[in-house]
Amino acid sequence: MKYKETHPRKVRGEAVHKTKDEKMEELTIKGTQIQVTMSMDGTELEVIEAAYLVPEVDHFVDAPDVKKLGERIKQWLATGYPVHLIGPTGCGKTSLAMHTAKERGRPVVWINGDESVTTTELIGGYSQIEQESLRDKYIHNVFKSSDILKADWVDNPLAIACKHGYTLVYNEFSRTKPQANNILLSVFEEGILELPTKFGEERYIEVHPDFKAILTSNSIEYAGVHRPQDALLDRLVSIYMDYYSFDTEVRIVHEHTGLPIHDVKKIVSIVRSLREKLPDAQKPGTRACIMIGKGLAASNGSGDTNFEQLCIDVIAAKTCSPLDLLEKQNLVKDALAALA
Ligand SMILES: Nc1ncnc2c1ncn2[C@@H]1O[C@H](COP(=O)(O)OP(=O)(O)OP(=O)(O)O)[C@@H](O)[C@H]1O
Ligand SMILES: [Mg+2]
Repeated sequence: MKYKETHPRKVRGEAVHKTKDEKMEELTIKGTQIQVTMSMDGTELEVIEAAYLVPEVDHFVDAPDVKKLGERIKQWLATGYPVHLIGPTGCGKTSLAMHTAKERGRPVVWINGDESVTTTELIGGYSQIEQESLRDKYIHNVFKSSDILKADWVDNPLAIACKHGYTLVYNEFSRTKPQANNILLSVFEEGILELPTKFGEERYIEVHPDFKAILTSNSIEYAGVHRPQDALLDRLVSIYMDYYSFDTEVRIVHEHTGLPIHDVKKIVSIVRSLREKLPDAQKPGTRACIMIGKGLAASNGSGDTNFEQLCIDVIAAKTCSPLDLLEKQNLVKDALAALA
């Protein structure tokens, strides 16, 4: 039976009855605002994830150690706790968080933590004021005029995820000022999201039972300016991730670069030996292995001089002086010599 609307009855500005076609039309993005009325299907997933520019996870390698971590995350999410992945730069936190979030089959919304992120960026706010003027000249000698100001509320990722039971990936959450993240305390503890700028019953949103959150943070930055408050950390299950095993890193670099395995093994061995010697903040991660690999794949020769230069260029990122660079060059030379 097809519903035919004869009387456009509206409740709080929304038509009460809608045809399937009308509902599909609603499934469009208005700026960053999304109206979701349809049951979950592929279209909805794509529309929502496109709106929040959720990164794609390319060439994901589900090696045994990756799978094991993924299972731990899923188990804690199923238990009802938000999961916090913590680990050194470039060890694979964001990729694992995204991959595991997508595996749930619910839309994934994404926020990147940053010093400038405020509670509004997390929950949303009034985006614009709509002004309507009414001129009433019903009685010829009486002129009535009124201006109506209507504020448009736009949900941001946290509110969207809480309302509709989506998976929130909050990347590098510890870079956001703790005051802005306070809003998460009642979400995780009481299952209530409070929208501070709203009034009355609209101020409180009951968190959807399917809402899940995966947060990531960099262990190197823990001594940084915005150390997350203990109250928030206490509400998260924290899984410490280190660099993957040699075999897994080889598989990842091979997958990303397509290089022959013996070249990949050489790259991973060099990077892993540099990791042992460099201070925490300068340790090269799996990303560095991929960068060297891509450089090698793009270069014509794989001679040792060229290879040495590629390694130096990639690990020179956090170099503070020519002396520092020389030390790094020597480390690369030693690591290459040890492999020969
Ligand atoms: N399981 C995996 N399969 C394929 N590629 C991976 C995997 N894990 C990590 N990578 C790759 O390794 C690189 C680093 O991963 P990622 O960005 O997830 O690390 P991170 O810990 O979030 O880094 P950062 O601390 O800099 O944010 C990326 O290029 C990513 O594509
Ligand atoms: Mg990351």
